[in-house]
Amino acid sequence: MLSSKLPFLALRSASSSAPRLSLTASRSAQHLLNVLPNSYAPRSNFATAKQRKKKSQTTIANTPPPALASKDATSNLKKLPIPDDPNANVGRIVAVTSGKGGVGKTTSAASFAMGIAAKKPSKTVCVIDFDIGLRNLDIHLGAERRVVFDFINVINNDCTVSQALIKDKRFENLSMLAASQTKDKDSLTVEGVEHVLASLAETFDYVILDSPAGIESGARHAMYFADDAIIVTNPELSSCRDADKMIGFISARSRRAEMDKTAVTQTLLITRYDPERAEKNESLSISDIQDLLGLDLVGVIPESKAILTCTNLGTPVISSSTHANDPANGAYSDMVDRFLGESKEMRFVTTEPASFFKRIFG
Ligand SMILES: Nc1ncnc2c1ncn2[C@@H]1O[C@H](COP(=O)(O)OP(=O)(O)OP(=O)(O)O)[C@@H](O)[C@H]1O
Ligand SMILES: [Mg+2]
Repeated sequence: MLSSKLPFLALRSASSSAPRLSLTASRSAQHLLNVLPNSYAPRSNFATAKQRKKKSQTTIANTPPPALASKDATSNLKKLPIPDDPNANVGRIVAVTSGKGGVGKTTSAASFAMGIAAKKPSKTVCVIDFDIGLRNLDIHLGAERRVVFDFINVINNDCTVSQALIKDKRFENLSMLAASQTKDKDSLTVEGVEHVLASLAETFDYVILDSPAGIESGARHAMYFADDAIIVTNPELSSCRDADKMIGFISARSRRAEMDKTAVTQTLLITRYDPERAEKNESLSISDIQDLLGLDLVGVIPESKAILTCTNLGTPVISSSTHANDPANGAYSDMVDRFLGESKEMRFVTTEPASFFKRIFG
């Protein structure tokens, strides 16, 4: 009965892949019923990977955005090799994406890019703002006054890629390419994006794409060329549902899927997690989210007031000396380590036991 109200629980029990983190179905179901408003009726099920592929083939494949649909090759534009191909010698393209807006993609892309640059001084990192018309990444990196040329200028040949890149003043191995503030989103073409990414991947070891929200032009271009995708979600159903759509889309419609190459490596980054609310059943728990989305976790970033301060100061929380002890700083640092292959336990995912004095005096 519960599973008919909460189809994803049925999906989980039907699925052969056992949950990585333990979840008692009854607890989960009960708390979701408590949390959800009475009027909530799930409109669609969370799909299995097979269903996702079929769905995207029938719905998404029929409605490609104009830029992705036009594939007539333009002569001088570079092609982006897949890094696993022999002799490719190109960097990896990592998309930070979500589906839903405002979940923490840009915040995460900024800390992630700076974290890799800080931890791997011998590697070069470039982070690109794909949010055409709504640029923000430059603010997160404290570079808003240094933007002269942007991504669309490069695509339109108004300048070279290196003229448009902004070098970070703290880490010389980190550069940024800003989004255009004003130009039309349709200025992105698949050939133009591939040309810019190919030029960058020749030079940089990691090319990180800060995707806009949605599954329209900008987000689709960002995910299309990805080798790795970091799917950002908050602990709420709407954000998980949109993440699920993006996961399906990447599985079926990315360049790797279309070329029958090894699949895009997709991992899950939960942001704005509040363990206290999860323990009180006021939000989804980590295991609920993993059960819904079925991806490995690359990190869990706690809700933190430091994030806003750091954004306003143009210093990603991962490199903020003032907030070095903030849980978000440690959580982003762990996330970067995991992405780079280290195995680390999740921190900041449970509530601190109250101290002796707090228990006595409140
Ligand atoms: N861990 C966190 N704790 C508290 N606030 C956060 C956290 N992460 C992000 N935020 C806040 O959430 C808001 C949205 O963040 P951000 O702009 O990074 O999201 P986004 O996914 O890039 O949004 P968009 O889809 O519009 O591009 C910002 O106000 C940011 O300060
Ligand atoms: Mg953003």
